[in-house]
Amino acid sequence: MIKIEHLKKVYPNVTPLKDVSVEINDGDVISVIGPSGTGKSTLLRCINLLEKPTEGHIWVNGVDVTDPKCDLGKVRQKMGMVFQSFNLFGHLTVIENIMLAPMDLLGKSKQEAYDEGMRLLRTVGLAEKALNYPDELSGGQNQRIAIARTLAMNPDIILFDEPTSALDPTMVGEVQAVIRDLAKTGKTLMIVTHEMNFARAISNRVFYMDEGGIYEDGTPEQIFDHPQRENTRRFIRKLKVLELNIENKDFDFLGMAGEIDQYCNKNQIPYKTAHRVRLAFEELVQQMLIPALASPDIQAVIEYSEAEESAVLTVRYGGPSFDVTKQGNELSLKVLQSAVSDIAYAWDEKAERRNQTTMHIRTA
Ligand SMILES: Nc1ncnc2c1ncn2[C@@H]1O[C@H](COP(=O)(O)OP(=O)(O)OP(=O)(O)O)[C@@H](O)[C@H]1O
Ligand SMILES: [Mg+2]
Repeated sequence: MIKIEHLKKVYPNVTPLKDVSVEINDGDVISVIGPSGTGKSTLLRCINLLEKPTEGHIWVNGVDVTDPKCDLGKVRQKMGMVFQSFNLFGHLTVIENIMLAPMDLLGKSKQEAYDEGMRLLRTVGLAEKALNYPDELSGGQNQRIAIARTLAMNPDIILFDEPTSALDPTMVGEVQAVIRDLAKTGKTLMIVTHEMNFARAISNRVFYMDEGGIYEDGTPEQIFDHPQRENTRRFIRKLKVLELNIENKDFDFLGMAGEIDQYCNKNQIPYKTAHRVRLAFEELVQQMLIPALASPDIQAVIEYSEAEESAVLTVRYGGPSFDVTKQGNELSLKVLQSAVSDIAYAWDEKAERRNQTTMHIRTA
């Protein structure tokens, strides 16, 4: 129903969407998640043509909406959008807000628009507010009205851009309940959200956006429980990551130790854990790998999970097979083992750096 091919969106200083191709089926309920600035809003705005794509095509029900000859008004009637900031008309009552578009754009009579508007207000639980003005209502109520207004056009597709993130926490639930009911009606929904439990509960598909596009597309089980790709896993587990690259024997060792300290401070890693991270890095990289490798090509990645208070140090390096647990010098290995609870070595023929040593930093 929505088919996107090689969509690219360039702004003067940034290219949030590099090359997005995806198909969205009728009735899909898709949660769009990902770090700030990864193009989630841009994707929705391109689909709705609030933004003009720089390159690529978007078909909605077989109509190429990127074609300049396309009748945008007609396409937009079948596609509603709900924003973080409701966008209701303050000088109109609730029911007038809802009646406006069906009368103007669908040619409905006042009576028809009113009857349908009242029916929709009942479904979002706000029939008694029909004659109030938006500023007389709470944020959660206003957002439910904004959803009713969108539904009044009877769209097949509804795009939500963070519909609950401007709301007081006590009102998030009532808006989510309305969207949850909508998800069962067979309409196609795309919802940008930072509420992971909500995303998991309502969607059949999740897009994790990163690196200029849809980085991983899967079921909620896949994305939340078994993410296949690195950045997805880090985002879901809220990992704090530091990556260090060493390309020669004369690297700035003290500068790097400083970077580790800074990273530990910034992420409030407990002092003892931070000390062990630094010790493990120094012992493995400085004492064991640098002397052993003819031309060092080392990448060290520290991942800290605040929720689990656990840190993992993964070190990948090129050169012939070198397992520090078997080939490293004994004294360094002892020191290393005092800082980490286990050391796992793996050799991957296909990897860019074929050696990998993974260690869990001791916590207690
Ligand atoms: N109209 C614009 N002009 C220039 N740059 C823009 C414009 N709109 C968005 N951007 C930039 O494009 C990038 C993607 O923005 P977008 O709003 O799509 O991100 P997002 O994933 O929705 O982030 P958030 O989670 O913070 O809402 C950002 O770097 C943003 O600054
Ligand atoms: Mg956004």
